[in-house]
Amino acid sequence: MKKKYVFLTAAALAMMAFLAGLALIFYNNKKKSAETAPEYVFLYAENQVADYPTTHGAERFAELVSERTNGRIKILIKTDAELGSEMQVIQQMQYGGIAFARISLSQLAEYIPEMNVLQMPYLYSGSEHMWRVLDGEIGDEFLLKTRDHDLVGLSWYDAGARNFYSTTPITCLEDFDGMTIRVQESDMMADMVAALGAKPAKIVYAEVYSALEQGIVDGAENNWPSYEAMGHYKVARYYTIDEHTRVPELQICSGAVWDSLSESDRQILMECAKESALYERKLWAEREKSSREVAEKSGITVIDLSREEKERFRDAMDSVYTRYCSNQMDILQKIMEY
Ligand code: GCU
Repeated sequence: MKKKYVFLTAAALAMMAFLAGLALIFYNNKKKSAETAPEYVFLYAENQVADYPTTHGAERFAELVSERTNGRIKILIKTDAELGSEMQVIQQMQYGGIAFARISLSQLAEYIPEMNVLQMPYLYSGSEHMWRVLDGEIGDEFLLKTRDHDLVGLSWYDAGARNFYSTTPITCLEDFDGMTIRVQESDMMADMVAALGAKPAKIVYAEVYSALEQGIVDGAENNWPSYEAMGHYKVARYYTIDEHTRVPELQICSGAVWDSLSESDRQILMECAKESALYERKLWAEREKSSREVAEKSGITVIDLSREEKERFRDAMDSVYTRYCSNQMDILQKIMEY
């Protein structure tokens, strides 16, 4: 009897252990699938190549978001303008077709004209000045302006200073005469180039290389990393440093997508975007140097504009300031003195 009792107890214990094991496996599988099967899969548009500071910033953003939501939110980054030009991406985001993007401010300013004031020619004394403005209350206010346009500004990315590059040298204002210069799809940029005396041609980023190569344009303007990464330095061999603009970039989210998310998810996205931006700024500084080295090693001619000549370029901008800033004089003044 006693033996039978011992046997039954052992069998019951074995059965309990077996059931507990099964429950554990079931629980683990469930946990695993909750971690691996995302609740949301979002697209992120980037028009730069895979190895570029802003793309690496996007990757950091996606990793952080995945980590902090235990894999619930997955962000798929599409580079090389696979999802369209920046202008097309903005439009799609306003309808929720694309969730996230990194966009040049000049493109956003076409939809939100007040943004132009942040990228006016020769506005900032240097990078520190621009970051003081963007990291302070002015930057925050401008991120909020996106909300009236079915978008949500998350963070500011660095894109350095833009300079001219061309197939014949630009050493003074007169050299622009008769030249066609590629600009972004931006009225302000087109007016800036016209004010300098050249003919502007709005061409999307992905097509600049062939426009230069085929002689459709005589020059373009961009920062060192873009000049290098897109191979423009191979076809426009003169790079004139005048730092005419600093056009910051923004990480943005579609307003429709933002509205569909919980408050805690929104907070995570905001946090991760800001952290990824700090990472991008660090990468940016490194890439500015290495891109310049690559271009210089290839034998391009770098032209450092003299102070007097730069002053003439700057003076030519009066009409552009009148056109784009006359209704924002207060904020313009504040930025200048910040
Ligand atoms: C920079 C910027 C791009 C933009 C490009 C342009 O490279 O990062 O977002 O498209 O300028 O000149 O069009």
